[in-house]
Amino acid sequence: MAKTKKLIVGNWKLYIDSPKAAKELYRAVANTARAAKRTQVVVCPQMPLLGLFASAPASSIRLGAQDAFWDIEPKHTGGSSVYALRSLGVSHVILGHSEMRAAGETSRIVSLKAQAVVKHGLTAVVCIGENERDARGAYLTHLDEQIRQSLAGIARPRLASIVIAYEPIWAIGKSANDAMTPAVLHETTLFIKKILVSMYGRKSGTSVRVLYGGSVESKNAGSLMRDGAVDGFLVGHASVDAKEFATIIKGVDEVKDVRT
Ligand code: PGA
Repeated sequence: MAKTKKLIVGNWKLYIDSPKAAKELYRAVANTARAAKRTQVVVCPQMPLLGLFASAPASSIRLGAQDAFWDIEPKHTGGSSVYALRSLGVSHVILGHSEMRAAGETSRIVSLKAQAVVKHGLTAVVCIGENERDARGAYLTHLDEQIRQSLAGIARPRLASIVIAYEPIWAIGKSANDAMTPAVLHETTLFIKKILVSMYGRKSGTSVRVLYGGSVESKNAGSLMRDGAVDGFLVGHASVDAKEFATIIKGVDEVKDVRT
């Protein structure tokens, strides 16, 4: 089977809030990504800015959204339908980010959204992650439950359209020094894969791509990629700094031997 590319998803959150800044950053990232051979880059502007890139010529990067509504029923106010997102050229959708979960989004809602996203041919980047690490390992039960509940209703044939983004909440929005170490990430990635295998069987379970997110910067991206057993990153603050993001992309793209 052909090895799939590594994946770097830039989560622009609300950092970028003007068309001018969005266009500049998009252009810079597309230039960097053009040289990447083993890595697919996705950028996720906030909803009102997605349309700016709807007619972007075939680009070296893909467009992602930061959410999608689960229904396509027109009698609903608010949210963004998967149809509308797809018509703008969106290929990836971040779901269940901890900042959305903190605002009340449950794993049940995440699973409904994920089902809608994959049903309509887009890729769901499903975020999971513990609030804190405790010595007794309750965080492992938490991760287990989040994965099972968020993927409820996702059948095996749809797994190619699912990406898990492991983002420990305690490591988000800090600096590379506060991020997870490669060794601990390695352990956690294997735990996540074990759960996926128990849900979908060995072949399908191990085929699901797992990303890490939480203070990925140019300083730690290479070692996390080499030793973390992940398929790429979900990058927040460092993805809106064109230079920093370029260094991350180049660093990841250069990594050939990944510890699994
Ligand atoms: P961070 O954010 O890279 O700024 O920690 C990651 C995320 O929240 O997706």
